[in-house]
Amino acid sequence: MIATGRGSGKLILCGEHAVVYGHPAIALAVDRGTTVVLRERPGPTGPGVSDVDDARLRAALLAVLPAEGFAVDVATDLPIGRGMGSSAALAVALVRADAARRGETPSFDDLFQRAFPVERVFHGDPSGVDHGVSLHGGVVRYLRAGPTFTHLPTPSWRLVVLDSGSAGDTAAMVAAVRARGVPDVLARIGALVSDAERHLGDPVSLGELLDENHALLQQIGVSTPALDGLVRLARAAGAFGAKLAGAGGGGVVIALVDDPAPVLAAARGAGVTAFPVAPG
Ligand code: PMV
Repeated sequence: MIATGRGSGKLILCGEHAVVYGHPAIALAVDRGTTVVLRERPGPTGPGVSDVDDARLRAALLAVLPAEGFAVDVATDLPIGRGMGSSAALAVALVRADAARRGETPSFDDLFQRAFPVERVFHGDPSGVDHGVSLHGGVVRYLRAGPTFTHLPTPSWRLVVLDSGSAGDTAAMVAAVRARGVPDVLARIGALVSDAERHLGDPVSLGELLDENHALLQQIGVSTPALDGLVRLARAAGAFGAKLAGAGGGGVVIALVDDPAPVLAAARGAGVTAFPVAPG
């Protein structure tokens, strides 16, 4: 082993898709993530022992590392392609490991820029919110302009993640929203994020805003019957609110709760994979 790096996964509390067009989003780093270990190995750089089996992994590695000389071991406890920032966590882990390999201690801004090419391999033209919050940690309001990171207080409520069991394609979903041309709905999502920031410590009001955000995401065509079903399941089990999180078309739903147990039990009863997360 010559160097190692770690990146956290993330969840978007509210504002996905709108953030691509310059509206704010609120996101949090979670207590799951990805670790990368670099080992010297003769021949082309490529995956070593890896939990990730994705054709784009090799391109992602070459976006950061030299073309020759490294085996890259990737270990993750994030579900892949589910809107939990698996590619962002990989990007951050890789640029941190690469900096460690070179004996550098780059600034936040430098690491943020270095991670962008990895995110582009997976997402086309990402806003930067995913790897930005992974790097930053905690709860963050993100604006593409700048980019601007505002650290927000860590709230006392909890989130339960409910997995639809299928992956979403972020680049395809972003392209579909662009093709639909729905600037008015995206502006309403942006305004809702500002409300959510004001009500971050009040789970009742915040839950209503998450419900409203899900309805707006339905309007822009990124929800699915499976995601809508998980939202209903979480609300019926007593969540303050629930919405899809990430690009949609698959992926996960987040449920805002004070006690994760009832939503977890309801998910288990319906055969749905669910787990609580804490800000990481
Ligand atoms: O990677 P995902 O599925 O969490 O989606 C990222 C959030 C989007 O707003 C849909 C895209 C972006 O680049 O911000």
